[in-house]
Amino acid sequence: MTTTDYAPPEERERWGSRIGLILAMAGNAVGLGNFLRFPNQAAQNGQGAFMVAYFISLLLLGIPLMWMEWGIGRRGGHFGFSTCPGMFQSLTRAKWVKFAGAIGVVMPLLIVIYYVYIESWTLGYAVQSATGVLTGDDPAAHFKRYLGDGGGFLGFESLQGSWEAYGFFGITIAVNLWVLSRGLSKGIEVIAKIGMPILLLCAVALVARVLSLPDVDGRTALDGLAIYWDPSQWKALFDNALAEDLFGRTSAIIWLAAAGQIFFTLSVGSGAINTYASYVKRDEDVALTGLATVSTNEFCEVILGGTLAIPAAYVFTGMSGVMEGSGSNMGLAFITMPDVFEQIPLFGQASGVAILGTLWFGLLFVAGITSSLALSQPTMAFFQDTMGLTRRKSAMVVGAIILIFVQPVILMEGVLDEIDYWAGTFGLVFFSTIEVILFMWVFGAGNAWKEIHLGSDIRIPRIFKFIMTWVTPIVLLLMLYTWGKDVALEVLQFRDNPNGDPYTEAGKVGAYVGRTLMITLFAFFVVMVGVAARRGRFKRVEHLQPEDSA
Ligand code: PHE
Repeated sequence: MTTTDYAPPEERERWGSRIGLILAMAGNAVGLGNFLRFPNQAAQNGQGAFMVAYFISLLLLGIPLMWMEWGIGRRGGHFGFSTCPGMFQSLTRAKWVKFAGAIGVVMPLLIVIYYVYIESWTLGYAVQSATGVLTGDDPAAHFKRYLGDGGGFLGFESLQGSWEAYGFFGITIAVNLWVLSRGLSKGIEVIAKIGMPILLLCAVALVARVLSLPDVDGRTALDGLAIYWDPSQWKALFDNALAEDLFGRTSAIIWLAAAGQIFFTLSVGSGAINTYASYVKRDEDVALTGLATVSTNEFCEVILGGTLAIPAAYVFTGMSGVMEGSGSNMGLAFITMPDVFEQIPLFGQASGVAILGTLWFGLLFVAGITSSLALSQPTMAFFQDTMGLTRRKSAMVVGAIILIFVQPVILMEGVLDEIDYWAGTFGLVFFSTIEVILFMWVFGAGNAWKEIHLGSDIRIPRIFKFIMTWVTPIVLLLMLYTWGKDVALEVLQFRDNPNGDPYTEAGKVGAYVGRTLMITLFAFFVVMVGVAARRGRFKRVEHLQPEDSA
């Protein structure tokens, strides 16, 4: 083993406790995806049929990838690496892999740029619910005003945005950076330990309220649940004509949407799980903890997340209301829900917005922040590891990048959607494919299986070795192919936007800006990886044999 100026494993940051690790990982996975994105996707893309594709994707893609990323991450951490460039380099000598690993730093950063902005809306709305500002206001008009949607900000016809939104964004990013600069066990872990129980309490209270709603015009909350719990139309997954007929979607779109939701909600395919896992000791279990992350996330998504927005909206607005809310950008969470709360009398008050709105948006904020921390940590760690920055300086650099690049996201139409599509949807599948091939094929299925089982508290059923080696990569390649052909090419050539609608003129401009922004950041990190490589930051592993790894 060669000696370098690399931080030896014993000096690395570590999680403070197992429960802290579990909660931080759960916080990573459980996010806006569970409560906002899931109901939208399920309602729009095949409902009960969506759920069938969803559970199949969970088994064949989600769970296997979760184990792989924990394995790759913990192994990387053992050699002093917290991010994918170094982690990948610890799996093979091929030089190019560290550049592919750069995607695992850029992608979470790209996602967090718009994720923090949405997270800041939830803070804004929580505060406005609690202070009564929302009570009695027209939710649709309020949302439009809050976002400055419609233009005219700063006197420019084409600019959206409002000072209110900026203010809450400023607070949100400041809190994130403050927590990040406190480090793993004193920052992220503390927030997860406080946040996750609060999240559960808020969610359970809201679920109880939704399930006990009186019926409106004969519509009950249980009917609302049946929208996505009824799998009887599963044939639509294999029958295009039926799918188009029932849901207005092709079978392929339903499959892609379901699988895409699995990636986003589990946080797999971005590099964020890998980084958190790198702070786990080599002899500590990842198999059981990885599975615990999945289970917690799925409970929060399918049971809690599913029992909130869809049934509540259904009771008060019917099926057309559910479809309208879930079809418009964030409408279900920020317009339909306040509208519904307005109609639920609580504790002798005519409107329940103050209390229920605070619970709902507070829940979203907590879910959001524990995920945005996870999305920021790879970039934090990258600057610390490869450039030798302190935690504080690194947090400042990450903050500066987010602050600069979020401007077009806030001000221009279409930028958010474009980045969400390439980084938050397609990119996750793309990067997962690289990871699977690298881990199961280049590093080798036998090595990978051993790596995941080092110090493990459970033995993973052997069938998963087969799934990880064959099924996961083949399904991923198939998805990339169909996706590339049916959707990505359309988007790339500005024929249809990510939502399947034609691009508007403003949306096109936004898409250009979004793409420029993504390419710029990617190029920057590829150069940074190159510079770090020249300084010998990845040297240690160049001499590594698989046997050295134990
Ligand atoms: N899983 C998070 C959510 O559901 C989002 C996320 C994606 C976080 C990728 C980290 C990495 O909201």
